[in-house]
Amino acid sequence: MSTIAHAHPNIALIKYWGKESIERNIPSSPSISLTINKLTTRTSVRPINDGDRFLFGNEQVEDEKITRFLEFLRHTYAIPPIEILTENNFPTGAGLASSASGFAALVTALNEEFKLGLAQSEQSVLARMGSGSAARSIFGGIVSLEGPTWAAQVLLKQNDWPLDIVVAITDDNIKDVSSSVGMTMSKESSPYYDDWVKSSETDFKNARKYILQRNFDRLIEVAESNCLKMHAVMLSTLPSLFYWNPATVACIKQIRDLREQGIPVFFTIDAGAQVKAVCLPGTGENVAHILSQVPGVLRTISATVGEDAWIET
Ligand code: PMV
Repeated sequence: MSTIAHAHPNIALIKYWGKESIERNIPSSPSISLTINKLTTRTSVRPINDGDRFLFGNEQVEDEKITRFLEFLRHTYAIPPIEILTENNFPTGAGLASSASGFAALVTALNEEFKLGLAQSEQSVLARMGSGSAARSIFGGIVSLEGPTWAAQVLLKQNDWPLDIVVAITDDNIKDVSSSVGMTMSKESSPYYDDWVKSSETDFKNARKYILQRNFDRLIEVAESNCLKMHAVMLSTLPSLFYWNPATVACIKQIRDLREQGIPVFFTIDAGAQVKAVCLPGTGENVAHILSQVPGVLRTISATVGEDAWIET
């Protein structure tokens, strides 16, 4: 007998990169994301007699982040030893927010299996302790994460603005430096870090306003600029964090060319080499076709805005 939960990853339109508190996993700046359907983590949880066991696909693995997370939960909740079996239908640890969907699915499953009775906003706070971006994957739609509660909130529901999303996969490998390690390095060494945090506050307020107005043209400006600023911080970190490859750059160029031709699309890139193209409803198919022909693009995934994390019945 086990409980199975599903959650989608999210792509950040306004990114967070840096923590105010590592211990409580509080971001240094607010963020906004789109929960993305098609990509899914499926996690099952069941109590077992011996110690915790974590299976990724068919393979038993050690995962320090999950071990620490369970330890944290057990300070408050009576959770017995468990087996966690998790699978992703997309590359893991490659800049596609697998930790976001992973921790969102895990919290959703634990809440159900052990009758914790947590509201979604409480689940969001718990998921954040596993991975900052996971707070946002508890919810579908377009989601914000800000203080003082640092529980994610829904700005627009799944069907309020059904944007198309095209993910151009340019590398299936696990990234060299994880987000948590990378953002700590940036805070310690990038000369641009403080300005990044300050300007993120403004970007967040503007992006929230444009999203509520469904003003795509203005959202393009703020989202692309916020993304490039985060990568400027990454590049100026010591040692430098360079997540892109030639195909990443070629996709950026192609998306800007498409826009020149009148196609409503913008790019965003998280800590990895994949490029996500966000398009007005109805334009994704064309954008996917064009991006799939960019040299170095391995394949594209066409998606739209996804739903809340859920329990499989
Ligand atoms: O909290 P993490 O480890 O999932 O880091 C998220 C970092 C970015 O994806 C680059 C930005 C974001 O807000 O999701």
